[in-house]
Amino acid sequence: MSRILWGGATSASQYEGGFTDGKGLDTQDCRAYLPRTSNATTETRLLTQRQIEEAKKKDSPYYYPFRVGTKGYEYGSADIELLKELDLDIYRLSISWSRLFPTGEEVEPNPAGVSYYDKVLNKLYNAGIKIFITIDHYAIPLNLVEKYGGWTSIKTVAAYMRFSSFLLHKWGAIVDYWLPINEINAGYFSPFNGVALVKPENGEYNYSDIFLSLHHQFIASAKTIKLGKELKVKGKFCAMISCFCYYPLTPKPEDNLELVENEEINQWYCMDVLAKGYYPYYAKPFFDKHNINFEISAADKELLRNNTCDVVTFSYYDSCICTADENKNQTAGNLVVTTKNPYLKATEWGWQIDPMGLRTTLHKIYDRYNKPVMISENGLGAKDVLTSDQKVHDQYRIDYFKAHFDQIIKAKEENVDVIAYIAWGIIDIVSAGSCEMDKRYGVVYVDADNKGQGTFKRYKKDSFEWYKHFIEHQRERSRSK
Ligand code: BG6
Repeated sequence: MSRILWGGATSASQYEGGFTDGKGLDTQDCRAYLPRTSNATTETRLLTQRQIEEAKKKDSPYYYPFRVGTKGYEYGSADIELLKELDLDIYRLSISWSRLFPTGEEVEPNPAGVSYYDKVLNKLYNAGIKIFITIDHYAIPLNLVEKYGGWTSIKTVAAYMRFSSFLLHKWGAIVDYWLPINEINAGYFSPFNGVALVKPENGEYNYSDIFLSLHHQFIASAKTIKLGKELKVKGKFCAMISCFCYYPLTPKPEDNLELVENEEINQWYCMDVLAKGYYPYYAKPFFDKHNINFEISAADKELLRNNTCDVVTFSYYDSCICTADENKNQTAGNLVVTTKNPYLKATEWGWQIDPMGLRTTLHKIYDRYNKPVMISENGLGAKDVLTSDQKVHDQYRIDYFKAHFDQIIKAKEENVDVIAYIAWGIIDIVSAGSCEMDKRYGVVYVDADNKGQGTFKRYKKDSFEWYKHFIEHQRERSRSK
Protein backbone atom coordinates (compact mmCIF):
# COMPACT_ATOMS: atom_id res chain seq x y z
CA MET A 1 0.00 0.00 0.00
CA SER A 2 1.23 3.48 -0.82
CA ARG A 3 1.95 6.01 1.95
CA ILE A 4 -0.69 8.50 3.06
CA LEU A 5 -0.55 11.86 1.30
CA TRP A 6 -0.96 14.84 3.62
CA GLY A 7 -2.73 17.87 2.25
CA GLY A 8 -4.87 20.92 2.65
CA ALA A 9 -7.97 22.36 1.00
CA THR A 10 -10.03 25.45 0.28
CA SER A 11 -13.19 26.03 -1.75
CA ALA A 12 -13.62 28.80 -4.30
CA SER A 13 -16.55 30.61 -2.71
CA GLN A 14 -15.10 30.52 0.79
CA TYR A 15 -11.58 31.52 -0.27
CA GLU A 16 -11.33 33.40 -3.55
CA GLY A 17 -13.45 36.54 -3.40
CA GLY A 18 -12.49 38.29 -6.64
CA PHE A 19 -16.05 39.31 -7.39
CA THR A 20 -14.72 41.04 -10.51
CA ASP A 21 -13.33 40.24 -13.93
CA GLY A 22 -16.64 38.99 -15.25
CA LYS A 23 -17.53 36.54 -12.48
CA GLY A 24 -21.28 35.87 -12.39
CA LEU A 25 -23.46 35.82 -9.30
CA ASP A 26 -23.67 32.35 -7.75
CA THR A 27 -25.78 30.86 -4.99
CA GLN A 28 -23.22 31.45 -2.23
CA ASP A 29 -22.85 35.10 -3.28
CA CYS A 30 -26.45 35.56 -2.16
CA ARG A 31 -25.80 34.68 1.48
CA ALA A 32 -25.48 37.68 3.76
CA TYR A 33 -23.55 37.66 7.01
CA LEU A 34 -25.89 37.89 10.00
CA PRO A 35 -24.61 38.04 13.59
CA ARG A 36 -24.79 34.70 15.34
CA THR A 37 -28.17 33.98 16.92
CA SER A 38 -30.09 30.77 16.52
CA ASN A 39 -32.25 32.48 13.90
CA ALA A 40 -29.32 33.80 11.93
CA THR A 41 -27.79 30.34 11.70
CA THR A 42 -30.96 28.97 10.22
CA GLU A 43 -31.51 31.95 7.94
CA THR A 44 -28.07 31.95 6.39
CA ARG A 45 -28.18 28.23 5.73
CA LEU A 46 -31.16 28.66 3.50
CA LEU A 47 -31.74 30.45 0.27
CA THR A 48 -35.14 32.07 -0.17
CA GLN A 49 -36.47 34.12 -3.06
CA ARG A 50 -36.53 37.12 -0.71
CA GLN A 51 -32.80 36.72 -0.04
CA ILE A 52 -32.06 36.36 -3.73
CA GLU A 53 -33.93 39.59 -4.51
CA GLU A 54 -32.06 41.40 -1.73
CA ALA A 55 -28.70 40.04 -2.94
CA LYS A 56 -29.33 41.28 -6.47
CA LYS A 57 -29.82 44.88 -5.27
CA LYS A 58 -26.83 47.10 -5.98
CA ASP A 59 -27.43 49.02 -2.73
CA SER A 60 -28.17 46.13 -0.34
CA PRO A 61 -26.99 47.14 3.17
CA TYR A 62 -25.87 43.58 3.96
CA TYR A 63 -22.31 42.25 3.85
CA TYR A 64 -21.92 39.27 1.52
CA PRO A 65 -18.82 37.39 2.77
CA PHE A 66 -18.60 34.89 -0.08
CA ARG A 67 -18.01 37.74 -2.53
CA VAL A 68 -14.85 38.55 -0.61
CA GLY A 69 -13.78 35.17 0.82
CA THR A 70 -10.24 35.59 2.11
CA LYS A 71 -9.11 37.22 -1.11
CA GLY A 72 -7.46 34.15 -2.59
CA TYR A 73 -8.02 35.68 -6.04
CA GLU A 74 -5.47 38.34 -5.05
CA TYR A 75 -3.22 36.31 -2.78
CA GLY A 76 -3.26 33.03 -4.74
CA SER A 77 0.35 33.10 -5.76
CA ALA A 78 1.71 34.04 -2.33
CA ASP A 79 -0.56 31.43 -0.75
CA ILE A 80 0.92 28.71 -2.93
CA GLU A 81 4.35 29.76 -1.68
CA LEU A 82 3.06 29.04 1.83
CA LEU A 83 1.74 25.65 0.72
CA LYS A 84 5.16 24.91 -0.75
CA GLU A 85 6.82 25.90 2.49
CA LEU A 86 4.47 23.54 4.33
CA ASP A 87 5.58 20.91 1.86
CA LEU A 88 2.06 19.65 1.26
CA ASP A 89 1.72 16.50 -0.80
CA ILE A 90 -1.67 17.48 -2.15
CA TYR A 91 -3.92 20.55 -2.37
CA ARG A 92 -7.66 20.36 -2.89
CA LEU A 93 -9.35 23.39 -4.43
CA SER A 94 -12.63 24.00 -6.18
CA ILE A 95 -13.26 25.90 -9.38
CA SER A 96 -15.84 28.66 -9.30
CA TRP A 97 -18.40 27.66 -11.92
CA SER A 98 -19.69 31.24 -12.29
CA ARG A 99 -16.17 32.64 -12.69
CA LEU A 100 -15.74 30.50 -15.81
CA PHE A 101 -19.36 30.42 -16.97
CA PRO A 102 -21.04 33.47 -15.38
CA THR A 103 -24.62 32.40 -16.15
CA GLY A 104 -23.84 28.74 -16.73
CA GLU A 105 -25.10 29.11 -20.32
CA GLU A 106 -22.09 30.59 -22.10
CA VAL A 107 -20.49 28.46 -24.76
CA GLU A 108 -17.00 29.86 -24.21
CA PRO A 109 -15.51 30.37 -20.73
CA ASN A 110 -14.60 33.79 -19.31
CA PRO A 111 -10.93 34.36 -20.30
CA ALA A 112 -10.05 36.16 -17.04
CA GLY A 113 -11.23 33.15 -15.05
CA VAL A 114 -9.35 30.72 -17.26
CA SER A 115 -6.17 32.71 -16.88
CA TYR A 116 -6.54 32.85 -13.06
CA TYR A 117 -6.91 29.05 -12.75
CA ASP A 118 -4.22 28.44 -15.34
CA LYS A 119 -1.73 30.32 -13.19
CA VAL A 120 -2.81 28.63 -9.96
CA LEU A 121 -2.85 25.10 -11.35
CA ASN A 122 0.43 25.42 -13.21
CA LYS A 123 2.10 26.88 -10.15
CA LEU A 124 0.90 23.95 -8.05
CA TYR A 125 1.99 21.49 -10.70
CA ASN A 126 5.43 23.05 -11.00
CA ALA A 127 5.76 22.98 -7.22
CA GLY A 128 5.21 19.21 -7.27
CA ILE A 129 2.02 19.47 -5.22
CA LYS A 130 -0.62 17.01 -6.33
CA ILE A 131 -3.81 18.70 -7.52
CA PHE A 132 -7.29 17.69 -6.39
CA ILE A 133 -10.11 19.57 -8.08
CA THR A 134 -13.66 19.77 -6.78
CA ILE A 135 -15.75 20.73 -9.77
CA ASP A 136 -18.83 21.93 -7.88
CA HIS A 137 -18.40 22.92 -4.24
CA TYR A 138 -21.78 24.23 -3.05
CA ALA A 139 -22.02 27.07 -5.58
CA ILE A 140 -23.82 27.20 -8.90
CA PRO A 141 -24.55 30.17 -11.18
CA LEU A 142 -27.67 31.87 -9.83
CA ASN A 143 -29.09 32.10 -13.35
CA LEU A 144 -29.43 28.31 -13.48
CA VAL A 145 -31.44 28.39 -10.27
CA GLU A 146 -33.73 31.20 -11.37
CA LYS A 147 -34.24 30.01 -14.90
CA TYR A 148 -34.35 26.24 -14.52
CA GLY A 149 -34.77 25.45 -10.83
CA GLY A 150 -31.12 24.43 -10.44
CA TRP A 151 -30.43 20.71 -10.15
CA THR A 152 -34.11 19.81 -10.51
CA SER A 153 -33.64 20.37 -14.23
CA ILE A 154 -31.76 18.26 -16.75
CA LYS A 155 -30.72 21.61 -18.29
CA THR A 156 -28.44 22.13 -15.29
CA VAL A 157 -26.83 18.77 -16.03
CA ALA A 158 -26.13 20.00 -19.57
CA ALA A 159 -24.67 23.26 -18.22
CA TYR A 160 -22.55 21.34 -15.70
CA MET A 161 -21.24 19.13 -18.50
CA ARG A 162 -20.07 22.19 -20.46
CA PHE A 163 -18.23 23.27 -17.31
CA SER A 164 -16.73 19.89 -16.39
CA SER A 165 -15.87 19.08 -19.98
CA PHE A 166 -13.95 22.34 -20.27
CA LEU A 167 -11.98 21.51 -17.10
CA LEU A 168 -11.14 17.99 -18.23
CA HIS A 169 -9.97 19.16 -21.63
CA LYS A 170 -7.99 22.09 -20.30
CA TRP A 171 -6.29 20.63 -17.21
CA GLY A 172 -6.74 16.88 -17.65
CA ALA A 173 -3.00 16.39 -18.06
CA ILE A 174 -2.00 17.88 -14.70
CA VAL A 175 -4.82 17.14 -12.25
CA ASP A 176 -4.41 14.08 -10.00
CA TYR A 177 -7.91 13.77 -8.51
CA TRP A 178 -11.30 14.97 -9.75
CA LEU A 179 -14.37 15.27 -7.56
CA PRO A 180 -17.55 16.07 -9.50
CA ILE A 181 -19.68 17.20 -6.50
CA ASN A 182 -18.66 18.20 -2.97
CA GLU A 183 -20.32 16.25 -0.11
CA ILE A 184 -23.09 15.01 -2.35
CA ASN A 185 -25.27 13.80 0.54
CA ALA A 186 -25.62 17.44 1.67
CA GLY A 187 -28.31 17.67 -1.02
CA TYR A 188 -30.49 15.76 1.41
CA PHE A 189 -29.68 17.38 4.75
CA SER A 190 -28.77 20.85 3.41
CA PRO A 191 -30.67 21.23 0.12
CA PHE A 192 -29.55 24.81 -0.40
CA ASN A 193 -25.83 24.01 -0.28
CA GLY A 194 -26.07 20.60 -1.87
CA VAL A 195 -28.58 20.95 -4.68
CA ALA A 196 -29.22 24.73 -4.74
CA LEU A 197 -32.90 24.46 -3.87
CA VAL A 198 -34.64 27.70 -2.99
CA LYS A 199 -36.60 27.23 0.23
CA PRO A 200 -40.30 28.09 0.00
CA GLU A 201 -40.90 31.06 2.37
CA ASN A 202 -43.57 29.29 4.38
CA GLY A 203 -43.09 25.66 3.71
CA GLU A 204 -40.76 22.74 3.61
CA TYR A 205 -38.62 21.46 0.78
CA ASN A 206 -40.27 18.98 -1.47
CA TYR A 207 -38.70 15.51 -1.17
CA SER A 208 -39.23 14.79 -4.85
CA ASP A 209 -37.23 17.90 -5.78
CA ILE A 210 -34.39 16.83 -3.50
CA PHE A 211 -34.12 13.27 -4.79
CA LEU A 212 -34.62 14.24 -8.42
CA SER A 213 -31.83 16.82 -8.02
CA LEU A 214 -29.59 14.18 -6.47
CA HIS A 215 -30.34 11.87 -9.37
CA HIS A 216 -29.26 14.62 -11.74
CA GLN A 217 -26.04 15.06 -9.78
CA PHE A 218 -25.41 11.29 -10.02
CA ILE A 219 -25.87 11.54 -13.78
CA ALA A 220 -23.58 14.59 -13.98
CA SER A 221 -20.90 12.72 -11.97
CA ALA A 222 -21.13 9.57 -14.08
CA LYS A 223 -21.04 11.53 -17.35
CA THR A 224 -17.98 13.42 -16.15
CA ILE A 225 -16.23 10.17 -15.24
CA LYS A 226 -17.18 8.69 -18.60
CA LEU A 227 -15.79 11.68 -20.46
CA GLY A 228 -12.63 11.76 -18.34
CA LYS A 229 -11.96 8.10 -19.12
CA GLU A 230 -12.61 8.65 -22.83
CA LEU A 231 -10.16 11.55 -22.80
CA LYS A 232 -7.70 9.41 -20.84
CA VAL A 233 -7.06 12.20 -18.35
CA LYS A 234 -4.30 11.60 -15.84
CA GLY A 235 -6.42 11.87 -12.69
CA LYS A 236 -8.58 9.48 -10.73
CA PHE A 237 -12.25 10.18 -10.06
CA CYS A 238 -13.63 10.57 -6.56
CA ALA A 239 -17.06 10.64 -4.99
CA MET A 240 -17.55 12.33 -1.63
CA ILE A 241 -19.98 12.21 1.25
CA SER A 242 -20.05 13.80 4.66
CA CYS A 243 -19.71 11.10 7.35
CA PHE A 244 -21.05 11.29 10.87
CA CYS A 245 -20.07 8.03 12.62
CA TYR A 246 -23.43 7.29 14.20
CA TYR A 247 -23.91 5.76 17.66
CA PRO A 248 -27.18 4.60 19.15
CA LEU A 249 -27.95 6.64 22.28
CA THR A 250 -28.74 3.45 24.22
CA PRO A 251 -28.67 -0.30 23.50
CA LYS A 252 -32.45 -0.09 22.98
CA PRO A 253 -33.28 -1.86 19.69
CA GLU A 254 -35.37 1.16 18.66
CA ASP A 255 -32.33 3.42 18.89
CA ASN A 256 -30.25 1.01 16.87
CA LEU A 257 -32.89 0.78 14.16
CA GLU A 258 -33.04 4.57 14.07
CA LEU A 259 -29.28 4.48 13.50
CA VAL A 260 -29.64 2.15 10.51
CA GLU A 261 -32.23 4.44 8.92
CA ASN A 262 -30.07 7.51 9.51
CA GLU A 263 -26.98 5.87 8.13
CA GLU A 264 -28.75 4.65 5.03
CA ILE A 265 -30.35 7.86 3.89
CA ASN A 266 -28.16 10.59 5.45
CA GLN A 267 -24.85 8.96 4.92
CA TRP A 268 -24.59 6.03 2.50
CA TYR A 269 -27.34 6.57 -0.07
CA CYS A 270 -25.38 8.76 -2.52
CA MET A 271 -22.13 6.84 -2.16
CA ASP A 272 -23.99 3.56 -2.67
CA VAL A 273 -25.09 4.83 -6.08
CA LEU A 274 -21.77 6.42 -7.06
CA ALA A 275 -19.41 3.71 -5.81
CA LYS A 276 -21.54 0.62 -6.51
CA GLY A 277 -23.28 1.89 -9.62
CA TYR A 278 -26.89 1.20 -8.72
CA TYR A 279 -29.63 2.42 -6.42
CA PRO A 280 -29.57 0.60 -3.07
CA TYR A 281 -32.35 -1.78 -2.04
CA TYR A 282 -33.65 0.65 0.62
CA ALA A 283 -34.27 3.48 -1.89
CA LYS A 284 -37.61 2.23 -3.26
CA PRO A 285 -39.40 1.81 0.09
CA PHE A 286 -38.09 5.24 1.15
CA PHE A 287 -39.32 6.77 -2.11
CA ASP A 288 -42.74 5.11 -1.72
CA LYS A 289 -43.05 6.31 1.87
CA HIS A 290 -42.29 9.91 0.88
CA ASN A 291 -44.16 9.99 -2.46
CA ILE A 292 -40.97 10.52 -4.39
CA ASN A 293 -41.54 9.91 -8.05
CA PHE A 294 -39.12 10.27 -10.91
CA GLU A 295 -38.06 8.05 -13.71
CA ILE A 296 -34.70 6.32 -13.78
CA SER A 297 -34.28 5.29 -17.39
CA ALA A 298 -32.47 2.19 -18.61
CA ALA A 299 -29.83 4.48 -20.15
CA ASP A 300 -29.29 6.20 -16.77
CA LYS A 301 -28.92 2.84 -15.06
CA GLU A 302 -26.32 1.75 -17.57
CA LEU A 303 -24.43 5.03 -17.28
CA LEU A 304 -24.28 4.74 -13.48
CA ARG A 305 -23.27 1.08 -13.60
CA ASN A 306 -20.39 1.70 -16.01
CA ASN A 307 -19.00 4.85 -14.45
CA THR A 308 -18.47 4.38 -10.74
CA CYS A 309 -15.86 6.38 -8.82
CA ASP A 310 -12.25 5.20 -8.41
CA VAL A 311 -11.77 6.64 -4.92
CA VAL A 312 -14.20 6.97 -2.04
CA THR A 313 -13.72 10.22 -0.12
CA PHE A 314 -15.45 11.75 2.84
CA SER A 315 -15.45 14.72 5.17
CA TYR A 316 -15.42 14.09 8.87
CA TYR A 317 -15.81 16.67 11.61
CA ASP A 318 -17.94 15.11 14.31
CA SER A 319 -19.90 12.04 15.30
CA CYS A 320 -23.65 11.87 15.80
CA ILE A 321 -26.10 10.04 18.01
CA CYS A 322 -29.37 8.42 17.01
CA THR A 323 -32.32 7.90 19.24
CA ALA A 324 -35.95 7.05 18.69
CA ASP A 325 -36.76 9.14 21.76
CA GLU A 326 -38.56 12.41 21.15
CA ASN A 327 -36.81 14.23 24.01
CA LYS A 328 -33.32 14.87 22.77
CA ASN A 329 -30.56 16.94 24.31
CA GLN A 330 -29.39 18.53 21.08
CA THR A 331 -26.19 20.04 19.75
CA ALA A 332 -24.98 21.18 16.33
CA GLY A 333 -22.95 19.20 13.82
CA ASN A 334 -21.78 19.73 10.27
CA LEU A 335 -25.02 21.02 8.67
CA VAL A 336 -27.02 18.71 10.92
CA VAL A 337 -28.36 18.71 14.46
CA THR A 338 -27.67 15.76 16.74
CA THR A 339 -27.89 14.56 20.32
CA LYS A 340 -25.14 15.32 22.85
CA ASN A 341 -22.64 12.59 23.57
CA PRO A 342 -21.59 12.76 27.24
CA TYR A 343 -18.24 11.10 26.46
CA LEU A 344 -17.07 13.73 24.00
CA LYS A 345 -15.95 17.33 24.14
CA ALA A 346 -17.34 19.72 21.55
CA THR A 347 -15.99 22.73 19.66
CA GLU A 348 -17.23 26.24 20.45
CA TRP A 349 -19.80 25.62 17.71
CA GLY A 350 -21.03 22.46 19.42
CA TRP A 351 -19.50 19.94 16.97
CA GLN A 352 -18.51 16.82 18.94
CA ILE A 353 -14.84 15.97 18.61
CA ASP A 354 -14.31 12.26 18.08
CA PRO A 355 -10.96 11.10 16.63
CA MET A 356 -11.76 7.42 17.23
CA GLY A 357 -14.96 7.91 15.25
CA LEU A 358 -12.75 8.77 12.30
CA ARG A 359 -10.98 5.42 12.56
CA THR A 360 -14.32 3.64 12.85
CA THR A 361 -15.54 5.49 9.76
CA LEU A 362 -12.43 4.54 7.79
CA HIS A 363 -13.08 0.88 8.55
CA LYS A 364 -16.77 1.06 7.74
CA ILE A 365 -16.37 2.90 4.47
CA TYR A 366 -13.52 0.68 3.27
CA ASP A 367 -15.46 -2.43 4.18
CA ARG A 368 -18.58 -1.18 2.40
CA TYR A 369 -16.96 -0.06 -0.87
CA ASN A 370 -13.59 -1.78 -1.11
CA LYS A 371 -11.98 1.13 -2.92
CA PRO A 372 -9.11 3.41 -1.87
CA VAL A 373 -10.30 5.87 0.74
CA MET A 374 -9.45 9.53 1.19
CA ILE A 375 -10.34 11.90 4.02
CA SER A 376 -11.03 14.90 1.81
CA GLU A 377 -11.95 17.24 4.70
CA ASN A 378 -11.32 17.38 8.41
CA GLY A 379 -10.22 20.01 10.89
CA LEU A 380 -11.06 22.10 13.90
CA GLY A 381 -13.17 25.23 13.49
CA ALA A 382 -12.08 27.53 16.32
CA LYS A 383 -11.64 31.17 17.24
CA ASP A 384 -8.00 32.19 16.97
CA VAL A 385 -6.29 35.23 18.41
CA LEU A 386 -3.55 37.13 16.62
CA THR A 387 -1.23 38.38 19.35
CA SER A 388 0.45 41.79 19.27
CA ASP A 389 3.65 40.13 18.06
CA GLN A 390 1.64 38.55 15.23
CA LYS A 391 1.56 34.96 16.42
CA VAL A 392 -1.35 32.57 16.76
CA HIS A 393 -0.87 30.03 19.55
CA ASP A 394 -3.31 27.34 18.45
CA GLN A 395 -2.18 24.41 20.58
CA TYR A 396 -5.84 23.23 20.57
CA ARG A 397 -5.61 22.70 16.79
CA ILE A 398 -2.31 20.83 17.10
CA ASP A 399 -3.92 18.57 19.75
CA TYR A 400 -6.87 17.99 17.43
CA PHE A 401 -4.58 17.08 14.52
CA LYS A 402 -2.45 14.77 16.67
CA ALA A 403 -5.44 12.88 17.99
CA HIS A 404 -6.99 12.45 14.53
CA PHE A 405 -3.70 11.60 12.78
CA ASP A 406 -2.98 8.86 15.36
CA GLN A 407 -6.28 7.22 14.51
CA ILE A 408 -5.72 7.51 10.75
CA ILE A 409 -2.28 5.92 11.03
CA LYS A 410 -3.76 3.12 13.14
CA ALA A 411 -6.46 2.50 10.52
CA LYS A 412 -3.77 2.29 7.85
CA GLU A 413 -1.84 -0.21 9.98
CA GLU A 414 -5.09 -2.16 10.28
CA ASN A 415 -5.03 -2.42 6.48
CA VAL A 416 -7.57 0.21 5.50
CA ASP A 417 -6.34 1.59 2.18
CA VAL A 418 -6.22 5.25 3.26
CA ILE A 419 -4.52 7.20 0.50
CA ALA A 420 -4.74 10.81 1.70
CA TYR A 421 -5.72 13.17 4.50
CA ILE A 422 -6.70 16.70 3.55
CA ALA A 423 -6.92 19.39 6.23
CA TRP A 424 -9.87 21.68 5.65
CA GLY A 425 -9.46 25.44 5.18
CA ILE A 426 -5.66 25.20 5.35
CA ILE A 427 -5.57 28.96 4.84
CA ASP A 428 -8.39 30.60 6.83
CA ILE A 429 -11.63 30.90 4.87
CA VAL A 430 -15.21 32.00 5.52
CA SER A 431 -17.29 29.34 7.26
CA ALA A 432 -19.75 27.65 4.91
CA GLY A 433 -22.26 26.91 7.63
CA SER A 434 -22.31 30.16 9.56
CA CYS A 435 -20.84 32.70 7.08
CA GLU A 436 -18.40 33.80 9.81
CA MET A 437 -14.69 34.51 9.64
CA ASP A 438 -14.46 33.82 13.36
CA LYS A 439 -14.70 30.09 12.74
CA ARG A 440 -11.24 29.29 11.44
CA TYR A 441 -9.65 26.00 10.36
CA GLY A 442 -6.34 27.14 8.88
CA VAL A 443 -2.72 26.75 9.82
CA VAL A 444 -2.39 30.15 8.15
CA TYR A 445 -4.26 33.04 9.78
CA VAL A 446 -5.93 35.65 7.59
CA ASP A 447 -6.43 39.03 9.22
CA ALA A 448 -10.12 39.69 8.53
CA ASP A 449 -13.25 39.78 10.66
CA ASN A 450 -16.86 38.69 10.18
CA LYS A 451 -17.68 41.85 8.29
CA GLY A 452 -14.66 41.73 6.01
CA GLN A 453 -12.70 44.37 7.92
CA GLY A 454 -8.95 43.79 8.16
CA THR A 455 -5.74 43.75 6.15
CA PHE A 456 -6.22 40.18 4.84
CA LYS A 457 -2.51 39.64 5.48
CA ARG A 458 -1.40 36.06 6.14
CA TYR A 459 0.32 34.89 9.37
CA LYS A 460 1.61 31.41 10.16
CA LYS A 461 -0.01 29.88 13.22
CA ASP A 462 1.86 27.53 15.58
CA SER A 463 0.04 24.67 13.84
CA PHE A 464 1.82 25.63 10.59
CA GLU A 465 5.22 24.58 11.92
CA TRP A 466 3.73 21.56 13.62
CA TYR A 467 2.03 20.29 10.43
CA LYS A 468 5.16 20.98 8.39
CA HIS A 469 7.28 18.86 10.74
CA PHE A 470 4.67 16.14 10.84
CA ILE A 471 4.65 15.90 7.03
CA GLU A 472 8.46 15.82 6.90
CA HIS A 473 8.56 13.12 9.53
CA GLN A 474 5.97 10.98 7.71
CA ARG A 475 7.94 11.26 4.50
CA GLU A 476 11.17 10.22 6.21
CA ARG A 477 9.45 7.28 7.88
CA SER A 478 8.14 5.98 4.60
CA ARG A 479 11.56 6.40 2.95
CA SER A 480 13.27 4.40 5.68
CA LYS A 481 10.76 1.53 5.47
C1 BG6 B 1 -18.11 20.92 4.83
C2 BG6 B 1 -18.02 21.78 3.60
O1 BG6 B 1 -19.44 20.58 4.99
O2 BG6 B 1 -17.79 21.49 6.06
C3 BG6 B 1 -17.09 22.99 3.72
O3 BG6 B 1 -17.65 21.01 2.47
C4 BG6 B 1 -17.25 23.60 5.10
O4 BG6 B 1 -17.36 23.87 2.68
C5 BG6 B 1 -16.86 22.56 6.13
O5 BG6 B 1 -16.51 24.78 5.26
C6 BG6 B 1 -16.87 23.09 7.55
O6 BG6 B 1 -18.09 23.69 7.83
P1 BG6 B 1 -18.17 25.17 8.41
O7 BG6 B 1 -19.62 25.42 8.52
O8 BG6 B 1 -17.49 25.13 9.72
O9 BG6 B 1 -17.48 26.04 7.43
